[in-house]
Amino acid sequence: MKNIGVFISGGGSNLQAIIDAIDNGDIKARISLVISSREGVYGLERARERSIPYAVVSKGDYRDSNSFGNAILKHLEEGRVDMVVLAGYLNILPREVIEKFRNRIINVHPSLIPAFCGQGYYGKRVHQAVLDHGVKITGATVHFVDEGTDTGPIIMQKPVEVLPEDDINTLAERVLKVEHQLLPKALKLLVEDRILVDGRRVIIS
Ligand code: GRF
Repeated sequence: MKNIGVFISGGGSNLQAIIDAIDNGDIKARISLVISSREGVYGLERARERSIPYAVVSKGDYRDSNSFGNAILKHLEEGRVDMVVLAGYLNILPREVIEKFRNRIINVHPSLIPAFCGQGYYGKRVHQAVLDHGVKITGATVHFVDEGTDTGPIIMQKPVEVLPEDDINTLAERVLKVEHQLLPKALKLLVEDRILVDGRRVIIS
């Protein structure tokens, strides 16, 4: 059975969506490790409730990216992690981790990449930019993680309509619900080895 490592930085509602998909038998794998970028976030409570081993690996505790990356890799090795899910994780993963887990790290982003993504576009800032620009359609994207920020090959996307009466909170809530559907679906494909990456194109079998 494949081991999944889930990285969080906050409430962990996407982590919970994965936990629920495993509990209902949809994803036949186990979460062997949760890594949080900081202490005291509710996502760690969710891990504790399910007795999932967790670690806090804070970038600020390491003198450079290399030692930060090695610390992450050590935890992933201990957890015998086969694939990684970034679920509301706010750090950029060091190169060593990306290289070791090439096309085995997926991330969920709350917009239709390549719109409203990259440096500085995370959490509610994404939805603020969507509203400021006046687009009629936004959505959620699950993609592979490469050395860039939100630049890896796209696995799945789902649109979400922007309503005239939307504010950041109503929009964020509606997009988050779609993330909770999309992320487990993409992870299930990865667990079942049904994803082929051909350059920038992702073929699902
Ligand atoms: C949300 O803004 C979500 O859109 C993004 O990460 C943030 C927190 O998600 N993916 P979570 O509740 O911690 O999973």
